[in-house]
Amino acid sequence: MSGDPPSPRLELAVGDITSEQVDAIVNAANETLLGGGGVDGAIHRAAGPDLLAHCRTLGGCPTGQAKVTPGFGLAARWVIHTVGPIWHGGDQGEPELLASCYQQSLARADEVGARSVAFPAISTGVYGYPMAPATQIAVNTVRSTPTHVDLVRFACFNDEALSAYRTALAD
Ligand code: AR6
Repeated sequence: MSGDPPSPRLELAVGDITSEQVDAIVNAANETLLGGGGVDGAIHRAAGPDLLAHCRTLGGCPTGQAKVTPGFGLAARWVIHTVGPIWHGGDQGEPELLASCYQQSLARADEVGARSVAFPAISTGVYGYPMAPATQIAVNTVRSTPTHVDLVRFACFNDEALSAYRTALAD
């Protein structure tokens, strides 16, 4: 018997990640973990002020790492905050750092026993990572990371994301 658990089932979901009914949603945060725009702003608004109060105790998070908090007012029990790389052209370690975000987020999910996790397209907004390679990394990393998570849902906030994930899943 192999010790590795099976890969999670992968799904696409169109729309706002804050309404996902999963055990954990992932936040594309910044190193301060003190909120921001994009999906980070939406998650903090939906979770309520207790999330920011809790995040203030965490001391930030380095790029490529992840930290978990309760979901407070969200349907999700946990929020996994990860910090994607800022795109500088692709030769500054961005692919490895982005892959690390997915690996570390799944590791945090395993630690708290989350079985279903929704991810946004980390780094593809304010941080400027091109959508096609970012979604390839998302799908390939989730497929190749040993985890007890059995459902991963990729939240597609627009048509560009949906189409890129469809291509990545078909590869
Ligand atoms: N649900 C799902 N996806 C969303 C949502 C939402 N509600 N809102 C935006 N997206 P971004 P980043 C998509 O900019 O690039 C913040 O200020 C969006 O279309 O949220 O990692 C942080 O504090 C895009 O495809 O995150 C950091 O400072 C993807 O989510 C910085 O932005 C990520 O876009 C992080 O930048």
